[in-house]
This record gives sequence, structure tokens and C-alpha cells, in this order.
Amino acid sequence: RATDPWHGRVVIDPCMRDVHGQNERLRAAGPLVPVELPGHVRAWAATRHDTLETVLAHPALSKELRYWADWAGGAVPADWPLNNIITAESMITKEGGEHRRLRRMVSRAFTPRHIEELRPRVGEVAAELLDGLAGDAPGPVDLRLRYAYPLPRNVICELVGMPRAWHAELNKLTDALIRITDDADYAASRMRTLRELFAEVIELRRREPADDLTSALIAVRDDEGGRLSEAELHDMVMTLFVAGHETTINLITNAVRALLAHPGELAPLRDGTVPWSAAVEETLRWDSPVAYFPMRYVTRDAEIDGVRLRAGDAVVACYAAAGRDPGHYGERATRFQVCDPPAAHLSFGHGEHFCLGAALARLEAEVALEALFEAFPDLAPDTSRGDPEPLGTPLSNSIRSLPVLLPE
Ligand code: HEM
Repeated sequence: RATDPWHGRVVIDPCMRDVHGQNERLRAAGPLVPVELPGHVRAWAATRHDTLETVLAHPALSKELRYWADWAGGAVPADWPLNNIITAESMITKEGGEHRRLRRMVSRAFTPRHIEELRPRVGEVAAELLDGLAGDAPGPVDLRLRYAYPLPRNVICELVGMPRAWHAELNKLTDALIRITDDADYAASRMRTLRELFAEVIELRRREPADDLTSALIAVRDDEGGRLSEAELHDMVMTLFVAGHETTINLITNAVRALLAHPGELAPLRDGTVPWSAAVEETLRWDSPVAYFPMRYVTRDAEIDGVRLRAGDAVVACYAAAGRDPGHYGERATRFQVCDPPAAHLSFGHGEHFCLGAALARLEAEVALEALFEAFPDLAPDTSRGDPEPLGTPLSNSIRSLPVLLPE
């Protein structure tokens, strides 16, 4: 028993009520900690910055599901909500040549140079939303719902070619993927509806190709069928859509919340002494939009930072824990401070699976923050609503609503 690491496992709070408190305890427990994720799923949690960096590029770790012993042995519930991520036929679950084949099909569209061309359009989307908010000023609004959410959602919908008239339908569905506390049947049915909606987008773009990623991928699928299967085409569009906005909503929400709570940090951003990109990087580190990302699997017995992992084990990447690791960032770890050049972080991952959309997320958040505080320099948190509720999923780190008071 003493040698069974799972005997002393830490149970992760399914509601994620206090993510940073939980992360502090996890880091203190070790660099790789046996944990139980909601749904009674076992994994090693990579909790510290340097260990996570090692894990993300370790040759004995793979994202291919076939290596996971608990999956093969039936210990992972069939309706585990994160199955959507770990079973997707997408670059997220592939390695080596297969991974490169899928990633290369879309990587050109996401290079910093291509993304920079979107800056004026992202600015227009932000301006439209701010005009809408101005209609409600002065007064209270939920800034997550009215600004942080529609901005990246509208941008990624345009990139994948989703018609605007379908956006309302999407609003109801898209959080299905990351809700782990929902009723499983309900979450699964919303997931099916989301897939059906994307199947319709693919059919639409087959009939009426346009200048978007779905049309480009359909051309690869239909003209050179061997390079992309029909299932991969569907999962790629879904992956780009979901990865392309959920996380960025959290980034914009967390950044505005942090700046409103630290007005001293806002002043040098507003007068141009410090670039808005510094606020984006510091938010990514200090309040990582991704909390715990599933999964990497141990392909052969290995030792990482003194911890023995066995072939078949799973490892979860604790991005939100690494960002505040005092072992790496020193006493600055828990301080939100944009005025110092922010230290590098791992919040977009590291190695072969480094976030494909990092440049897009950075651009959107930068444009969103600058436009928001220019339109409403005296924006204030609405403290009458009490403490904001966390999202309640181990995958994402943010709050369900961001109540603010729009000034005159
Ligand atoms: C991968 C974070 C926005 C698409 C990742 C990973 C992280 C991450 C941590 C690596 C996961 C792992 O292997 O452990 C974020 C954050 C974002 C963001 C914090 C926003 C603030 C975006 C956007 C897109 C995107 C806008 C646009 C399409 C992807 C894709 C992958 C990925 C496709 C998989 C890459 C691969 O496996 O090769 N992201 N992401 N992400 N991200 Fe993002």
C-alpha cells in the first residue's frame, strides 16, 4: 500500500471553488502529484513550472489515447465530459507524422503575420460591441456575456465560415464541451447538437465555398481525399472553433477583472508607458485561462523530477498552477504586475503542441483591452453582486460572469 501512489491521491474539487488555493496545495505536495479528477479518473498532476515544461516535451509522454491503461481497462467513464477532447480525431491527440500532417493543414492561417492582418477586423468587432454597451451606460452589465464572449466567438465564426444568423443557436451550445458538473446526458445531447450544427456548416461550405478555413479544408478533403478523412475534417473544424474561443473568453475576462482589481497597473497601460501586450502576458501567467489540460500518457516507465511514472499512467498539465509557482517566479509569483517586463510563461503550452492560436488570442485580447478602456476609462467593478462564481470545470479557469458598472 505504501508504494501505491494512488492511495494518497489528492481529490480535485469538481466545482473548482478555489483554484489558486488548490494549486498552492498541489505544488506543495510535489512536482508530480497523484490526483483524482472529477469522475474518479486518476492522473499525475504536473504542478510546478519547470516540471510542466519537462512534461510537455518529454519523449516518454504521448497524447495518443492508446497508451492509457485506465482507458483500455474501462476505468474511465464512457460519459466522462473530457472524452470529447481526448478522443477527438484532431492534432490535439496525435503525435509525430500524424500530428504534423493535421497541424500543417491549418498552421499557415495562424502565423503571426497572417493574424496581424486581422487586426482591423478585430477592432471593428470590438467597436461594434462597445457601441452596444454604450447604449446601457451608465449602469451595470455582465462584461463577460456582453464583450469577452462575443468578441472571440464572432472572430472565430468568421474564420471558420459560420453564418452570422446561426450565432444565437451557438450561444446555447458551446459551453457543453467544458462543463464537467452538468448532467452527463444533457451535456452529451448538447454536444451532439453542436456537432450537427458544424456538419451543417461543412455542408453549406461544400455547396457555397467562401474565403474561410472550412472551405479550405473541404478542398483538401474532396480534391486530395487521402490527406484528410471526413471524421478528421469535422473534428478539425470543431477543434478550431472550441479551442479558438473558450480560452480567449477567459483571457479577456480574467484580464479585465485583474486590471479593475489593480488600478495602479492600469494607469501606465492607459497612458502608453506600458504596452497592452504586457497586461495580456501577465494575465496569461497569473490567471491562466486553461486550468488543467488533459492528457498525456506514459509510453514507458520513466522518472521525472524524482517521481517514478509507470507505462500506462496519465498526466494532466496544470497550467494555472505553473503560472504562480514561487519556485520559478520567486516572490513575484502571486503578484499581478504589468509594469515589470512580465516573465515568460507556459500558458500556451510548450513543444510540438504549443498553442496553434496563440497569436490570434494575443491579438484579440490586446485589441479588446485597449478598446474597452479607451471607451470606458472609468469602468468599475460592480461589487454589489458579491464574489463572482468560478466556471466550475477543471479545464478552464475563469468566472461565470463579470459584473461591472459602465460610467456616464
Ligand atoms: C493548444 C492554450 C487560444 C487553438 C493549446 C495548448 C494550450 C492552449 C495550453 C496546449 C495544450 C496541451 O497540449 O497541453 C490556449 C489559450 C488560449 C488559446 C490560453 C487563449 C487565451 C487558442 C485559439 C486557437 C487555439 C484562439 C485558434 C484556433 C489551439 C489548437 C491547439 C491548442 C488547435 C492544439 C495544438 C496541437 O496539439 O498541436 N492551446 N489556447 N487556441 N490551441 Fe490554444
